[in-house]
Amino acid sequence: MKNHVWKPLYIVLAIVGSILIIRTVLVPNDFGMHERGYMYGWHRKSNEADWKKVPVKYKTAKVCRECHKDKYDDIKDSPHGSISCENCHGPNYNHPQDPVGLKIDTSRALCLRCHSLLPYKNSARAKIPGINPDKHYTQAECVMCHYPHDPTRSNPKHRRPEVKS
Ligand code: HEC
Ligand code: HEC
Ligand code: HEC
Ligand code: HEC
Repeated sequence: MKNHVWKPLYIVLAIVGSILIIRTVLVPNDFGMHERGYMYGWHRKSNEADWKKVPVKYKTAKVCRECHKDKYDDIKDSPHGSISCENCHGPNYNHPQDPVGLKIDTSRALCLRCHSLLPYKNSARAKIPGINPDKHYTQAECVMCHYPHDPTRSNPKHRRPEVKS
C-alpha cells in the first residue's frame, strides 16, 4: 500500500497512544467504582473522606424537634407544616453551641417573600394566599398578629395592636 494511506493511520495511533499514556499519568490510582457500586458513580476513594469533612449546614426539623418540641408540635399540622424551620431561621450549623446562621427575623419581608399577592396566577407560588403589602395592616409586623408556627392562630407572644380601618 502507498505511504499516503499509512501516514494518517500512524498519526491516529500516535494520538490514541498518547491519550492512554496521559490518562495513566493524570487519573489517580483510587479512581473507580467502590463498595457502593453505581450509587456514587466513578469517583476517587479519598474524595469520600474529603466530603465527610464538609460541615452540614441544614439539619432538618427533626433535629430542631429535640429541643424545640413546642414549636415543632405547633407547626406540624398547621398550614405552615410543609415549611422547614430553617427556611425562616437560616441554617442550623452548630446551633445552639455556635449561633451562626440562626436568627429571629420578625420583618414583614420574611413573610412577604411568600405572601405578597401576585398579579399573575399561573404559578404554584400564586396558590399561597396573598395580601397586598401596601394595604394589609401596614403599621405592624406580621408576627404582631399572626403566629408564624401556626398562622391560623394569633400570636400568643404579642397583643394585637389596635387596628383602625
Ligand atoms: C440541642 C438543643 C437544640 C437544638 C437541636 C436546636 N436548638 Fe434552637 N435553641 C436551643 C437553645 C438552648 C436556645 C437558647 C434558648 C434561649 O436563649 O432561650 C435556642 C434558641 C433558638 C432560637 C432563638 C434564638 C435567639 O436569638 O433567641 C431559635 C430561632 C432556634 N433556637 C431555632 C432552632 C432551629 C430552627 C433548630 C433546628 C434547625 C434548632 N433551634 C435546634 C437549643 C437547641
Ligand atoms: C414561617 C416562618 C417560620 C417557620 C417555618 C418557623 N419559624 Fe420559628 N419563628 C419565626 C418568627 C417570625 C419568630 C419570631 C416570632 C415573634 O417574635 O413573635 C420565630 C420564633 C422562634 C423561636 C424563638 C422563641 C419564641 O418563642 O419566639 C424559636 C425557638 C423558633 N422560632 C423555633 C422554630 C422551630 C423549631 C421551627 C420548626 C419546627 C420554626 N421555628 C419554624 C418564623 C418561623
Ligand atoms: C416559604 C413560604 C412561606 C413563608 C416564608 C411564610 N408563609 Fe405563610 N403560608 C405559606 C403556605 C404554603 C401557606 C398555606 C397555603 C395553603 O395551604 O393554602 C401559608 C398560610 C398562611 C396563612 C393563612 C392561614 C390560614 O388561616 O389558612 C397566614 C395568615 C400566613 N401564612 C401568614 C404568614 C406569616 C405571618 C409569615 C411570616 C412570619 C408567613 N406566613 C411566612 C407559606 C409561607
Ligand atoms: C394588625 C394585625 C395584622 C397584621 C399586622 C397583619 N395581618 Fe394578616 N391578617 C390579619 C387579619 C385580621 C386577617 C383576616 C382577614 C382580614 O381581615 O384581612 C389577616 C389575613 C391574612 C392572610 C390570609 C388572607 C386570605 O386570603 O386568606 C394572610 C396570608 C396574611 N394575613 C398575611 C399577613 C402578612 C404576610 C402580614 C405582614 C406583611 C400580615 N398579614 C400582617 C391581621 C393582620
